Amino acid sequence: MDVADALYKRISIRAFKDTPIDEQAVRTLLDKARWAPSGGNLQPWKVIAVSGDEKAACSALAGEVLAKNPGGEAGDYPIYPETVEEPYRSRRFKVGEDMYEKLSIPRDDKAARFARLAENYNFFGAPVGMFFVIDRSMGHGQWAHLGMFMQSLALVAVEEGYGTCMQEAWGMVRASLHAHFGLPDNEVVYCGLALGVPDMSHAVNTLRSDRAAVDEFSTFRGFKTS
Ligand SMILES: Cc1cc2nc3c(=O)[nH]c(=O)nc-3n(C[C@H](O)[C@H](O)[C@H](O)COP(=O)(O)O)c2cc1C
Repeated sequence: MDVADALYKRISIRAFKDTPIDEQAVRTLLDKARWAPSGGNLQPWKVIAVSGDEKAACSALAGEVLAKNPGGEAGDYPIYPETVEEPYRSRRFKVGEDMYEKLSIPRDDKAARFARLAENYNFFGAPVGMFFVIDRSMGHGQWAHLGMFMQSLALVAVEEGYGTCMQEAWGMVRASLHAHFGLPDNEVVYCGLALGVPDMSHAVNTLRSDRAAVDEFSTFRGFKTS
């Protein structure tokens, strides 16, 4: 598989087969992804991979926290800015509506939409979950570099026949995860990730999200006209 194929083939997978993934297979993915670049080669990422009882414990913890407080735990790293301006606002709205359309869940069926969102905390049925942890002393650059690592992992997962969904939803229970994993004060859980063999028969995995055309986000200066 070439890089462009993997890049296009990687979509967010939100339904998985039961096929287990063993520790060695997860190690192999991480071993490949660690070649992601980072400024100054800081490699500002840490990974916690969970399976079996540990994965179930994370799901149970999220269930408990969100039952008490459906808005999630207050934190210093909100998932989105307080105001999401255009064109970003419309893009976010559209991908959500497109997903619920695939699932035949109408806008007014709040209970079904909520239940679908809650699937995040079951890693969408994936056999493996991952959490990405970063040192609180890191700045915006290093957070971007962690993102490069995550994308690298998602791409090598595609090459190995797996699917992934990155999951900032886990940020809603960040403080509880921090305590559960016994992390030091200087570390913060940024994001989760579901990893497994995609169930491509599930309607949710037929979603191909839009992208803006090159001319919408690029300008070209100084090129000779051909
Ligand atoms: C850092 C990050 C966090 C994300 N968090 C979630 C999440 O919590 N739940 C979810 O269903 N999708 C999540 N997504 C998936 C995005 O909605 C998805 O990447 C976007 O709509 C583009 O679709 P695609 O991944 O299928 O190309 C996340 C994506 C990224 C990059």
